Amino acid sequence: MSSPKTIRWGILATGAIAVTFTKDLLVDPKTRGVAHVKHAVVAAASSSSKSRAEQFLKDCGCPADAQAYGSYDELVKDPNIDIVYVATPHSHHYQNAMLCLEAGKNVLCEKAFTVNAAQAKALADKAKEKDLFLMEAVWTRYFPLSIYVRDVITSGRIGPVARVLADNSMASNPEATWSDGKHRMVNPDLAGGALLDLGIYSLTWVFQTLYHTQPENARKPPAVLAVMKSYDATKAADETTTIVLSFPRSAEAGGDAHAVATTSLRVATAPGGNGDTPGIRIQGPKGEIQVFPPAFRPTRTKLILSDGTIEDKSWLQPGPGKGSGWYNGFAGGKNSEGEGHGMFWEADEAATALVEGRKEGKYEGLAESILIMEVMDEVRKQGGLHYPEKIETTQFPVQL
Ligand SMILES: NC(=O)c1ccc[n+]([C@@H]2O[C@H](COP(=O)([O-])OP(=O)(O)OC[C@H]3O[C@@H](n4cnc5c(N)ncnc54)[C@H](OP(=O)(O)O)[C@@H]3O)[C@@H](O)[C@H]2O)c1
Repeated sequence: MSSPKTIRWGILATGAIAVTFTKDLLVDPKTRGVAHVKHAVVAAASSSSKSRAEQFLKDCGCPADAQAYGSYDELVKDPNIDIVYVATPHSHHYQNAMLCLEAGKNVLCEKAFTVNAAQAKALADKAKEKDLFLMEAVWTRYFPLSIYVRDVITSGRIGPVARVLADNSMASNPEATWSDGKHRMVNPDLAGGALLDLGIYSLTWVFQTLYHTQPENARKPPAVLAVMKSYDATKAADETTTIVLSFPRSAEAGGDAHAVATTSLRVATAPGGNGDTPGIRIQGPKGEIQVFPPAFRPTRTKLILSDGTIEDKSWLQPGPGKGSGWYNGFAGGKNSEGEGHGMFWEADEAATALVEGRKEGKYEGLAESILIMEVMDEVRKQGGLHYPEKIETTQFPVQL
């Protein structure tokens, strides 16, 4: 067997998700049965200072020879980097990802991919022009759990999916939690609001079950109806958004299929963290698949068939395991000892694509990322949500 190919990562930004991703990246891929690729973190950059990047590398447990940079411009010039992970607020993804692509770097860019579809398209065009890999970091799509759900659908076990209900909501008490209105979750200058941050996962479940599971040549964009409730404290950010979608399908494939995608900063999918209520229900004539919250990192599915079959499955994330003294989690939350967060699956996919010479992610290509951004544009149009021009523009470079 040939030895694993090492992919060298540069981390652009040092916030909460950058920490979680980088720690997962450093977990030995063998702990999840992956033997063909390995990951190395060779550099990180902070827009605020070099010392912040140094501290980040130390906190994540990166090797001592990893380079720290005090600007993103320096990072993208580093010749030792194969791929850059962009982990800034979504307002900045377009500018930051374009900076990487212009510098000849492959890119894995956090969700929501961009602020709007025009920006997503411009990035895809640039990646194509430069023959570079570009992928939206919708990590959930690469979970074994998601692969199982899609397999259940394509194998016909619940019949043609007729309806999907998908929610990703958090009762975050926004006025108290983000009282100055500056946090990226509610700040219009950072493309704040529920839709782009949380609603993207409701749409992810709708698209990966109703759109991605269809043969490529049969996939058609959905019709969209939406309402948005504005978050009063900062005005141009949505507090609660509800989207109804209708996916055209041939009569042989089951005819049109419906979906309702919901998201909120005010109410929770699972109040008090109670995970007994499914946040996602994928319904067909022969049964349904339930996925339990949170929609972005589910660990349990339940297949309920009308013949009485029940398949209740647990999907804990692998990692170094108990006794390792290693912990990951997000923004102060802590997983069990030795349990990975699950971000390594998307990293493995990006690395595999680089090894194979592919330029897009396997379970969500750029056309699908752009289409989902188009749906979110339409939702914002119907809901009257506009962000400042400086973050909606496709001009580059723009100082944000
Ligand atoms: N996949 C997931 O599960 C997941 C979870 C949470 C968030 N996300 C996504 O990841 C992105 C970052 O989220 P986060 O929670 O990590 O945010 P965060 O903790 O606020 O970190 C964002 C980082 O971006 C950099 N940055 C550059 N310009 C900035 C500006 N004007 N304002 C604020 N930060 C700026 C900062 O790092 P430097 O100072 O070092 O440059 C900052 O630490 C968002 O797009 C979000 O949707 C994904």
